[in-house]
Amino acid sequence: MQLWILGFVVLFTPVSGEDFPSLITANASIAVVLDRQYLGEKYQTILDELKDYIKELARVELKHGGVIVYYYSWTAISLKKGFLAVFSIASCEDTWELFSRTEEEELLLFALTEVDCPRLPSHSAITATFTDPGEELPQLLLDLRTSNAFQWKSAIILHDDTLSRDMVSRVVQSLTSQIDDESASPVSVTVYKMKHEINEYLRRKEMYRVLSKLPVQYIGENFIAVVTSDVMTTMAETARNLLMSHTMAQWLYVISDTNAQNGNLSSLINDLYEGENVAYIYNMTDNNPDCKNGIMCYCQELMDAFISALEAAIQDEFDVAAQVSDEEWEAIRPNKLQRRDKLLKHMQQHIAAKSRCGNCSTWRALAADTWGATYRSFTETTDIVNDNNMNTTNRVIDKIDLLNVGIWRPIDGVRFEDVLFPHIHHGFRGKELPIITYHNPPWTILQRNESGAIVKYGGLIFDIIHQLAINKNFTVKVILASVLKKELSNDTTTDMMHSMEAKLTISAIAKGQGALAAASFTVLADPVPGVNYTIPVSIQSYAFLIARPRELSRALLFLLPFTTDTWLCLGLAVILMGPTLYIIHRMSPYYEAMEITRQGGLATIHNCLWYIYGALLQQGGMYLPRADSGRLVVGTWWLVVLVVVTTYSGNLVAFLTFPKQEVPVTTISDLLANRALYTWSINKGSYLEMELKNSDEPKYLALLKGAELVSPTDGKSGTMSSGSSLLQRVRFHRHVIIDWKLRLSYMMRADRLEDDNCDFALSTEEFLDEKVAMIVPAGSPYLPVINKELDRMHKAGLIMRWLEAYLPKKDRCWKSSSMMQEVNNHTVNLNDMQGSFFVLFMGFFSASTVLLLEFLYNRRKRRSEQIVIKPYVE
Ligand SMILES: *[C@@H]1O[C@H](CO)[C@@H](O)[C@H](O)[C@H]1NC(C)=O
Ligand SMILES: *[C@@H]1O[C@H](CO)[C@@H](O)[C@H](O)[C@H]1NC(C)=O
Ligand SMILES: *[C@@H]1O[C@H](CO)[C@@H](O)[C@H](O)[C@H]1NC(C)=O
Ligand SMILES: *[C@@H]1O[C@H](CO)[C@@H](O)[C@H](O)[C@H]1NC(C)=O
Ligand SMILES: *[C@@H]1O[C@H](CO)[C@@H](O)[C@H](O)[C@H]1NC(C)=O
Ligand SMILES: *[C@@H]1O[C@H](CO)[C@@H](O)[C@H](O)[C@H]1NC(C)=O
Ligand SMILES: *[C@@H]1O[C@H](CO)[C@@H](O)[C@H](O)[C@H]1NC(C)=O
Ligand SMILES: *[C@@H]1O[C@H](CO)[C@@H](O)[C@H](O)[C@H]1NC(C)=O
Ligand SMILES: *[C@@H]1O[C@H](CO)[C@@H](O)[C@H](O)[C@H]1NC(C)=O
Ligand SMILES: *[C@@H]1O[C@H](CO)[C@@H](O)[C@H](O)[C@H]1NC(C)=O
Repeated sequence: MQLWILGFVVLFTPVSGEDFPSLITANASIAVVLDRQYLGEKYQTILDELKDYIKELARVELKHGGVIVYYYSWTAISLKKGFLAVFSIASCEDTWELFSRTEEEELLLFALTEVDCPRLPSHSAITATFTDPGEELPQLLLDLRTSNAFQWKSAIILHDDTLSRDMVSRVVQSLTSQIDDESASPVSVTVYKMKHEINEYLRRKEMYRVLSKLPVQYIGENFIAVVTSDVMTTMAETARNLLMSHTMAQWLYVISDTNAQNGNLSSLINDLYEGENVAYIYNMTDNNPDCKNGIMCYCQELMDAFISALEAAIQDEFDVAAQVSDEEWEAIRPNKLQRRDKLLKHMQQHIAAKSRCGNCSTWRALAADTWGATYRSFTETTDIVNDNNMNTTNRVIDKIDLLNVGIWRPIDGVRFEDVLFPHIHHGFRGKELPIITYHNPPWTILQRNESGAIVKYGGLIFDIIHQLAINKNFTVKVILASVLKKELSNDTTTDMMHSMEAKLTISAIAKGQGALAAASFTVLADPVPGVNYTIPVSIQSYAFLIARPRELSRALLFLLPFTTDTWLCLGLAVILMGPTLYIIHRMSPYYEAMEITRQGGLATIHNCLWYIYGALLQQGGMYLPRADSGRLVVGTWWLVVLVVVTTYSGNLVAFLTFPKQEVPVTTISDLLANRALYTWSINKGSYLEMELKNSDEPKYLALLKGAELVSPTDGKSGTMSSGSSLLQRVRFHRHVIIDWKLRLSYMMRADRLEDDNCDFALSTEEFLDEKVAMIVPAGSPYLPVINKELDRMHKAGLIMRWLEAYLPKKDRCWKSSSMMQEVNNHTVNLNDMQGSFFVLFMGFFSASTVLLLEFLYNRRKRRSEQIVIKPYVE
């Protein structure tokens, strides 16, 4: 089986070699297809001219071997003849049809075709489209689209009289047509025409009329303005005034009334603003009479390029073949595809360098480099920016910087070395943005080394900034808020709304000294003027910190199985049962009837009481009633005793094994219900205080009313050291701190690390969300950009994950809130038993008291007896 396959391979390899012989052994053959239908009456002249030209060319240029040319007059030819390449002049449709077949055969196709034809893929074919000068605009836009210079789903074409009606429909067609090439999907196009007004004022008015009515939310914000250069200036201004030229919108100005002589576009662009996406394509056509054009010119140039490529390929193969043996050569010589690619590359280079046909119709593309341009000036100077330099309402860029994107020519289409909209593709293009920050964990953590230099910027916000910098391609220049003011404040408060650094940051951002503040700020309903919030980075909810519920004292454990009223009832029953038994026993006629004397035991109330008590403790009496009435009383009592005692002992066991806790306070309502017992505190001036004040829920109002307002500086000394008074109050004096859950859990952890106990618990209820966001200067063009990125990070769960990394880990204390810890192996200890000993002691004490009373009683009785006796003696 294996041998058979081997033989198969050996047999077939040389055959596949025969199919496309080496250029050394056989002359290359090429098919030239001149479509008679397409060329019409020009067919014969072109054919004759081309035949002569190729013959001459091959003779002069091809030094090794020759080329065999087959001529065809229609495109439906058979390609099985081992052609090296196909050259065609045909209609667009036929060219693509021919291409699909040359692609199957892996042949090189270089085609000359009509205008408004999508070019064949440049990795396997060459397309030249020829037009009369001045008609190239639709082809230009088509080429932009097929080369993915813009990747738009929709576009708005704004044009003035520069475009004739016929041209408009061709332009629309070029953008909306369906193309086989999947990469360039059709763009949906909306066209608006505006009257060309000479008068500046009228033009402005007309522009305003058209632009202000555009339903951009439905038709997108990608504009193609085909206008003259003076209209462009007006349009740019109007669009800016209507807030239509922003980071999310893309404006492509196609300017046709320039030419090679007056073609300095920079002088025509008045100003550019930070954050705009503007690209220009302008006419650089030279009306030189020497300009070459016409179909024959293109034919000749393409053939030149081919013959040159062929010559190079043959030369190459000769060189290599001369160095190796025949067998080796068979093994290494290029296959069909490699040869095609080589020829293609060579031809493209040749055309790019040497082509002259239609060279005069050139269009140049420029892109405005606007993003981050105003920040360039002062990231370069390390010093603190002069406050007056920056004007936030005015983001005009001083130094207009236009990037040279590339040129367009009819013969080889777009040749761009950069992208048309650099900021859409590359964000800030690696520019440096000043970002203001200060230390505020866990949002921003500035790590310093021993000498005090900051070595690492961390924390949630910096995680976000770093991601933002990657996504939007900028580098971060950190400006410390503390550096902004000369006298370094000694206040190290970490509260967001009060720290000196937060205030400095806000004022610096409001002055536009930074593109963004890498710090977290509470989103307030009436924000500080001059800044805008991004979408919330995080939403923090409030909770309260309370001492963990303690086990109740077990001293009186033996009383716990019954509630107080049960105990009272029981006592009452004992007290009442004594007399009842006595009365029934006493009144029963049984003893008289049976003539039995009521002996000892139950003869007195006192004895009955003791009997009933004894029976309760399951101690029998010596004498029981003999009458059934009395026995029934005692019998039912025993029943009661049975129930009571069983219940008691069962419950006692339960109480021994499941230690009882204080009722935990876990919600605001609980706290308010226990307001007599607990005190609580809120940071003065915090968002919480404000929010509670504005709330109309009675619960919150009551919470605020009962709260102590502590100033944040006290709070601060209380936050970090567990020895602080506030925390001690929580621990020992039923105090409650209300704050962010995040901050409280930090406090808890700090305390646990210090003395390894779990004294505190957090409320289960979380209330009042506080939104935390970064800030940008008001009206910053980058707010939508940042928001979009933040939104993506939120949706991807990145922010959540990063934040979790900074949260205190769930430790032992977290878990033990489920208090079932000790259940399984609680052994009864002295604590549990102390109550019984106490009772014993009480018993002993009362016995001694009674004993004393008995002595007294006895003595007094004797003395009274003596007194009675005395007169008798006398
Ligand atoms: C290749 O073409 C040249 C010039 O036309 C001719 O002299 C030569 O014989 C041809 N070689 C083959 C192998 O056909
Ligand atoms: C480009 O400029 C040339 C020379 O000014 C002009 O003849 C031609 O019509 C312009 N092209 C377009 C599309 O307007
Ligand atoms: C274009 O004009 C600007 C000033 O308007 C000038 O600085 C620049 O050198 C000019 N560029 C060319 C290529 O002439
Ligand atoms: C043709 O265009 C190329 C590239 O723009 C340029 O370098 C060359 O000078 C032009 N040639 C002529 C004759 O205009
Ligand atoms: C900022 O610019 C606006 C308009 O350009 C101007 O009205 C305002 O006075 C300027 N503010 C400062 C502080 O320079
Ligand atoms: C960032 O910008 C530079 C400069 O334009 C560019 O070369 C690079 O490709 C960009 N990087 C990304 C990821 O877009
Ligand atoms: C701290 O970092 C600064 C800047 O990176 C460096 O110059 C300095 O030597 C470092 N100091 C120590 C003690 O590592
Ligand atoms: C900060 O502290 C230093 C010394 O610790 C002191 O000289 C300075 O006056 C303090 N500054 C302020 C604003 O309190
Ligand atoms: C930015 O802030 C200004 C006032 O400071 C406000 O009028 C404007 O609506 C804010 N913009 C956004 C997008 O929130
Ligand atoms: C309960 O007993 C087991 C085994 O005797 C022991 O490993 C465990 O630590 C005890 N648990 C507690 C809370 O004492």
